[in-house]
Amino acid sequence: MITYNFSGKVVLVTGSSRGIGAGVLTAFARAGATCVLHFWDDPAGANREDAEALAAELRALASKPPVYVFAGDVRDAAQVEALMKQVKDQCGGLDVLVNNAGIIKDRTLKKMTLDEWHAVIQTNLDGVFHCCKYGAEVMRDGGRIVNVASVAGLVGFHGQTNYAAAKAGVIGLTRVLSKELARRQITANAVAPGVIQTPMLGEIKPEVMTEYLKQIPAGRLGKPEDIANAVLFLATEESGYITGQVLPVTGGWV
Ligand code: NAI
Repeated sequence: MITYNFSGKVVLVTGSSRGIGAGVLTAFARAGATCVLHFWDDPAGANREDAEALAAELRALASKPPVYVFAGDVRDAAQVEALMKQVKDQCGGLDVLVNNAGIIKDRTLKKMTLDEWHAVIQTNLDGVFHCCKYGAEVMRDGGRIVNVASVAGLVGFHGQTNYAAAKAGVIGLTRVLSKELARRQITANAVAPGVIQTPMLGEIKPEVMTEYLKQIPAGRLGKPEDIANAVLFLATEESGYITGQVLPVTGGWV
């Protein structure tokens, strides 16, 4: 196991009450980072309870990381601006921003509704734009942005016009940011997960999942920890000369 030390660094992971985001934030917490657990207070969901339970778990770790819990919807620019102000005022600034919040609404082009198209673009692409725009304003020089894209943004999969367009957009945005922010020694990279075991997979049909599994050379689905390992690597000071890149984490699948 690689031992990282992020003590003194303020790390914000969007949508980190569960799934990949929770795994990534937990890895930063173990490495001593000041953690900002951000969750969507969706009235239809259990995100608030999940967020409070995860915050308690993180605070009980041996590394005793400071943990802040902030709510917000990444689709809403004003909420994201307010979130970043909270981070600046209460945590003193931002060192690492991981744009993880995302949704999936798969359907073929023919059947996809306009609402399904807009929902995915607004969350997965507009949300990343909002967080990068307002996050960069409060980020300290030498900071790190890691966007959670997807191999779906590199390869087109059936039934994912909305998702693939959003994730390919995130990859393009990441490449531009790497150039715009380089003069502040801020890097911007993306990870492109393959199929990772999280609640999001509940939305994929079992027969499609069986097909995916057959194609993964590693012979297993990924875990949030697999993504966390890649994100922490890209967030280290030592990765400062790596920017504008996309790192697939797929068990060799794509
Ligand atoms: P998940 O559904 O477990 O977690 C997504 C998180 O985003 C949840 O905490 C949710 O509350 C939050 N979120 C959704 N809409 C939001 C909004 N408007 N504002 C703030 N937060 C919001 O899913 P998972 O699998 O952990 O996904 C995390 C990221 O990884 C997503 O960007 C997803 O597209 C990406 N990804 C996941 C893969 C997988 O196989 N699970 C594969 C490739 C990429």
